[in-house]
Amino acid sequence: MFDLHSHVLPYIDDGAKDMETSLAMLKMAKEQGVNTVVATPHCVAKDSMAVDVFVEKRRESYEKLLLEIKNKSDYPEILLGSEVYLCGDISEFENLSSLCYQNTNYILLEMTEDIEPSQTVEWIYNISVKGYRPVIAHVDRYSFYAQIMRELSHVDVVYQINSSRFLTMTDRRHLKNVFKYHNKFLASSDMHNLTSRVCNMAPARKIAQKKFSTMCPMLFEEGAEAILNNRAFPEY
Ligand SMILES: [Fe+2]
Repeated sequence: MFDLHSHVLPYIDDGAKDMETSLAMLKMAKEQGVNTVVATPHCVAKDSMAVDVFVEKRRESYEKLLLEIKNKSDYPEILLGSEVYLCGDISEFENLSSLCYQNTNYILLEMTEDIEPSQTVEWIYNISVKGYRPVIAHVDRYSFYAQIMRELSHVDVVYQINSSRFLTMTDRRHLKNVFKYHNKFLASSDMHNLTSRVCNMAPARKIAQKKFSTMCPMLFEEGAEAILNNRAFPEY
């Protein structure tokens, strides 16, 4: 499996608070059958200078982590991405590609309830017009998810779902409603720590295999593979 949304990099955001936590989170993912983890720390892209500062901070954290796991087989491969907080029109930033999933034009975007949904839709559309492929983080979390998905129906967008959503019956019921609005979904852990927001890709996949069998390969393998290889995302 691949995990394309995680906060495993140490010392950079509200994810892994230190190297020890980071290593334990990665080990936990590997034990669950996750062979590739993309580190997607939060980036508040207020302006293009803030993007450059973030990218440098991310590089430092990533290099420290790689030194720790060098030549050890009990850790997954780690790639870079980011979770970009949408608080303005970032489509004009000339360094926006540095926030995409490594060597692709897919970009993970986080929405906020503080901004009017139609405004967010416009910003996402502008990003897509520039040739990027938006991946909307945990779309199921927002009260306005249906509006967003309806208004973006003409745009090539992937919706990411947190894997924890598969674990309870109430959440699965919610997912069924969310899945009605689109046909491209990706499941990822969004793991932050070792206690309240852990990696649960294996139990989630097991349940998804039973309850959402047609979508399961796209959610847990084929969608992520398409993103990492910069190919078109599969539909179900
Ligand atoms: Fe996240």
